[in-house]
Amino acid sequence: MVQLENTKCSFLFCLGICILICSAIYLKAKIPNTSVERSGLSSQSTPALKSCDILPSATPGFTWQRKACKKISYETKSNANCTVLKSDLHFITTPLSKEENDFPLAFIITIHKELETFVRLLRAVYAPQNVYCIHIDAKAPEEYKSSVRNLVECFPNIFVASVNEKVTYAGFSRLQADINCMKDLVKSPTKWKRVINLCGQDFPIQTNLELVRYMQGPEWKDRNMTPGIKQPPTMKHRTEFQYEEVKGTHVAPKGRSQKKGPPPHNLTIYFGTAYYSLTRPFVEFILNDKVAKDLLEWSRDTFSPDEHYWVTLNRMEEAPGSHIEGEWEGNVRAIKWRDQEGTAHQGCKGQYIRDICVYGIGDLPWLIEKESMFANKFETANFPEALDCLELWHRHKVLQHAMVPIQASWRLTTEIEIINSTLVLKPGECF
Ligand SMILES: *[C@@H]1O[C@H](CO)[C@@H](O)[C@H](O)[C@H]1NC(C)=O
Ligand SMILES: *[C@@H]1O[C@H](CO)[C@@H](O)[C@H](O)[C@H]1NC(C)=O
Repeated sequence: MVQLENTKCSFLFCLGICILICSAIYLKAKIPNTSVERSGLSSQSTPALKSCDILPSATPGFTWQRKACKKISYETKSNANCTVLKSDLHFITTPLSKEENDFPLAFIITIHKELETFVRLLRAVYAPQNVYCIHIDAKAPEEYKSSVRNLVECFPNIFVASVNEKVTYAGFSRLQADINCMKDLVKSPTKWKRVINLCGQDFPIQTNLELVRYMQGPEWKDRNMTPGIKQPPTMKHRTEFQYEEVKGTHVAPKGRSQKKGPPPHNLTIYFGTAYYSLTRPFVEFILNDKVAKDLLEWSRDTFSPDEHYWVTLNRMEEAPGSHIEGEWEGNVRAIKWRDQEGTAHQGCKGQYIRDICVYGIGDLPWLIEKESMFANKFETANFPEALDCLELWHRHKVLQHAMVPIQASWRLTTEIEIINSTLVLKPGECF
């Protein structure tokens, strides 16, 4: 009996000590984090930042830690207090330099899922002098659409496209989505100088200041960026035969290989990326010029028309800002294609999907070195650490370039003291 009492005592004693030690560690970890900022975006799988070694070094004895989390669903309810929302979600609310303020950009962002990923992309490219058209796939769930609408209500320079298509991969609807946004953007009071298109799986590598400088540099001043070449024989079928969009699912050959007529106005068809940076006069040309409109109509039943439409028009002498002799120039996107493994890159550390790498955290050093404007693709469902880490790295760079005082809410990280090696940050924990 005495034996049992002793054991019980020892156990309770140990338990007490454990609680004391744990509390001490907990409190110590909390101390540098007691700022009143409410801030935060929930991060289902915040990694231990030790693995994000692309970040600049923290003060000796300290480590970077993502700031306190808050559920995104709470932030995007209707009638949110916009001042609080912008601060909680770490949006940058003043232009960071005169240079950027004098060269506003327009963005077209087409999205269909993952609210949190969208918010991360949006806040990474957001600047108050720019303008943003968000095209939401008409197939997206109502709840998603209303969350996005609630969020953008807080920003006078962000709007949802007035017409939203059911978007099909490789279909004409993908091209139409951009055109819909362009129609809205030319009516915007913002005197934007370039329009850039993004999808939900993109993320910036360059800061807004770097983008502005790149567009104003000697190579791209007053010029559209549409990487691409004359249509190679392997791509000929895309515009030689008729295709049909099976709304919202896929694109299929129409009937039994029905041939299309030649392109209008004897145009030479090019093939390139669907991503671009376009000048405002060129966008007006797209929307108003007869050749551009005829090519658009002709492209309705082609395969993946967004990969020929922009580049074909940009190789026309008459088009404003065109680049007639251009080929693949322009660092619009860093993409790891499977067939370029061993040449352009040394393999995908994440996973190939449709022959394009979905980045893992191990791909980030390669990405950063590329100095492309943006990178594609990121998927938070499978490789959350990659976006998590790149986001922190990008925001550090943005704030480093800022020419104005930095507000505390703009920071995504705080420094916390490294207490001892027993403090392990488990993925999924929010601080
Ligand atoms: C939003 O919240 C801030 C800070 O809590 C407060 O000062 C402001 O009055 C609120 N605005 C509205 C419109 O409720
Ligand atoms: C169409 O263009 C080709 C060369 O690109 C030229 O040889 C041909 O004469 C043109 N046809 C017409 C009708 O303009």
